[in-house]
Amino acid sequence: MFKVTVCGAAGGIGQPLSLLLKLNEDITDLALYDLVNAPGVAADLSHINTPSKVTSYLGADQLPGALMGANLVIIPAGVPRKPGMTRDDLFKINAGIIRDLATAAATHCPKAFMLIISNPVNSTVPIVAEVFASKGVYDPKRIFGITTLDVVRASRFVTDIKAGSVNPVTTRVPIVGGHSGPTIVPLLSQIQPHQSFTQEEIEALTKRIQYGGDEVVKAKDGAGSATLSMAQAGARFAKAVITAALHGATGIVEPTFVDLDADATNGAAIRAEIQGLQHFALPVELGKDGVERIHSIGSISDYEKQLLSGAVSELKGSIQKGVDFVRASL
Ligand code: NAD
Ligand code: LMR
Repeated sequence: MFKVTVCGAAGGIGQPLSLLLKLNEDITDLALYDLVNAPGVAADLSHINTPSKVTSYLGADQLPGALMGANLVIIPAGVPRKPGMTRDDLFKINAGIIRDLATAAATHCPKAFMLIISNPVNSTVPIVAEVFASKGVYDPKRIFGITTLDVVRASRFVTDIKAGSVNPVTTRVPIVGGHSGPTIVPLLSQIQPHQSFTQEEIEALTKRIQYGGDEVVKAKDGAGSATLSMAQAGARFAKAVITAALHGATGIVEPTFVDLDADATNGAAIRAEIQGLQHFALPVELGKDGVERIHSIGSISDYEKQLLSGAVSELKGSIQKGVDFVRASL
């Protein structure tokens, strides 16, 4: 039995994400929660002939039912960007939404894996961590900020400039830091399989990966941000977490924004390299309890070191902003 709850299931990400989760045969119960339209989305998906039973929950009164017994909660609830906005501009609306959803999850499914999509991820993940800590149920191994879209984009963008010689499905670029412009630090020097780039290619690729979200926001021209590619990235990350948890599969590694205390062995050494930040995106090996091992940054180029130092100073403020928001409302 494996129950997944999607909070924000009727939205631009929520609908295609719920579709992709409906196709995941490890899931036995798919609970769709939103303030609007959840019953319609659930009725539609419930006709697909895969094992999961789909149920719908509409409005705050039904949130406890959606969360009760959940093994994994994935959250794309909240508002997306419009042109001219930063992800941090979403904080004033999304911070409260995430705090309230996290409060309900800490009460009704405190052991669930919590997968956070809503922006600004660099602050919403610390918000969830702080809420769980305030309720005495915090396990840093089980709370993840989804940064998979940056990794998905990087594999694709590399293919765009190395046409013919790179497979976008198997190419992997580790991305560390966070999920907003300068905090997204692609480690092209560690690309697998190995590729050589000119410095000009490295700088152009890095910028495109850092600002991939803006490309979509601009093209959608006021109608929101990435939804379809995000749904694919979210379903890929959820599948990785579920596969490691349910089947004891080893060697599953995905970059994700986590609390470095999740790895008692490597976390402290990594924190020392990044001015003591509590949360950071790094490739993480997943296991039956969530985070199994956080990979260290490893050896990086001087250009990447420079990017990393910019990321650390921006992240410091974003993480603290999330923590302060929760502490102020306790
Ligand atoms: P959307 O407006 O299309 O959908 C959001 C959904 O959330 C709506 O259905 C809305 O009714 C619902 N919602 C709002 N408040 C809620 C609450 N309190 N409880 C439950 N549901 C609630 O937006 P979208 O395009 O799906 O984007 C959602 C979020 O995901 C945004 O914050 C966006 O910035 C973020 N995002 C993150 C990434 C990433 O890489 N992590 C990528 C793309 C988008
Ligand atoms: C993205 O990277 O596409 C998302 O974070 C949405 C956004 O606001 O760009």
